[in-house]
Amino acid sequence: MPVKVICGLQWGDEGKGKITHLLSDGADFVGRFAGGPNSGHTIYTSGQKFVFHVVPAGIFKPNVICLIGPGTVIDPVGLVDELDAVKDISPYEGRLFLSESAHLILEYHRYQDKLEELARGDSKIGTTLRGIGPTYSDKVNRVGIKAGLLKYPNELKAHVANTLEKKNKIFTSIYKAQPLKLDQVLEPILRLSDRIVPLLADTAFLARKALENNKNILLEGNQGVLLDLDHGTYPYVTSSSCTPCAGLASFGISPKYLTDVIGIVKSYQTRVGKGPMPTIQNNETGQLIRERGKEYGAATGRPRDCGWLDLVTLRYSVQIAGANLLTVTLLDVLDVFEQIKVCVAYKTPFGIITEFPSDLETLLQAEPIYETLPGWKQDISRIRAWDDLPENAKKYLKFIENQVGARVSLVSVGPEELQTIRRDI
Ligand code: GDP
Ligand code: IMO
Ligand code: MG
Repeated sequence: MPVKVICGLQWGDEGKGKITHLLSDGADFVGRFAGGPNSGHTIYTSGQKFVFHVVPAGIFKPNVICLIGPGTVIDPVGLVDELDAVKDISPYEGRLFLSESAHLILEYHRYQDKLEELARGDSKIGTTLRGIGPTYSDKVNRVGIKAGLLKYPNELKAHVANTLEKKNKIFTSIYKAQPLKLDQVLEPILRLSDRIVPLLADTAFLARKALENNKNILLEGNQGVLLDLDHGTYPYVTSSSCTPCAGLASFGISPKYLTDVIGIVKSYQTRVGKGPMPTIQNNETGQLIRERGKEYGAATGRPRDCGWLDLVTLRYSVQIAGANLLTVTLLDVLDVFEQIKVCVAYKTPFGIITEFPSDLETLLQAEPIYETLPGWKQDISRIRAWDDLPENAKKYLKFIENQVGARVSLVSVGPEELQTIRRDI
């Protein structure tokens, strides 16, 4: 009755969607536990590309039950778009459930996100403008609206009207912006309520029952450790927790069930939005990585900053996540490089450090210290076995293993499910 959690070990976009899709073959249940439309998980299947924001990547495996957990935030319009995209290829009725405790993202949350970002000026966070921060703030402030309220339209309307009145005071007096009209906020959710209400369930209860019945659960993490609200590069983080423990907490699953944490790391570093990334390459190297890895945000289309792999951050995230199985993705992107740099330490005003600094100022001033490894200069996208990898590719992976103290169990050499080298999993 194991629970396995997939966890991003960088600033998101490590390929969690592809790996969840792949590993959901061995799962009875696949759950998303946090985040919402800020997340974009890409899956290729049946010759088509899909990007999911909240629908679990297990949706294409017909025997898998998909759960959207209490810790998520849901844009009803976006959710229905996702359902429409999959309904013909993978019928979801009776096997996709949305937690009644997930919080709804409403028009006033997106508006607030935009106004707050504008007001921050040069120090903006670079959010996805999907209303994530304001929705989680309302949840913590106990004025949020849970998806379960869709079953009670009159109560929902009253709650929204009440909250909007207060929000409008803030919009007009603090941000000098136009107020929102109640209908703007209510219309989309009431219009789509018929599509969403049938999905509502107590997904935490379903997860507990599944474990009682010896079923396997795979939890699909959102974002990555470096974007975690507590452990990431605050304030340049998202507003939820991204660690495996958050997955257990979201579904109310006891830690005793956790058997594996599958940490996902891409073979280089990327970041989208604002915030420090010491190994950023604002040059031809960064551009080449971006073009080869198609490094444009799956949720927003923004170009991602690209750079060399940072093992200072990776050692840290492997520890925080407790990752026992490492998956290295997008290794094929490095195929063209003569030499590959890897950051092993930072030079800071306080000396050379190998531990990730918990204060932003040190990180902002950190200069990466690199080791250089030989590239393999060979197309690896058709390789399916560890032993067939070029020696220099194996050297690169073993270097990572030695530096972070976790074994590489899976290697991804392309976006398709088959483009994977299974070593231990
Ligand atoms: P997620 O948010 O962690 O699920 O990752 P995203 O979907 O946002 O970004 C990962 C991108 O890399 C997507 O475009 C995937 O299709 C793609 N991808 C995943 N694994 C590989 C790989 O091994 N090689 C290549 N070239 N692309 C990959
Ligand atoms: P997946 O699940 C990459 C980033 C945003 C911004 C910061 C805060 O696809 O890996 P928010 O809208 O959450 O308030 O934005 O977090 N961000 C992500 N970056 N991948 C993600 O998710 C992200 N979700 C949020 O770009 O810098
Ligand atoms: Mg993504």
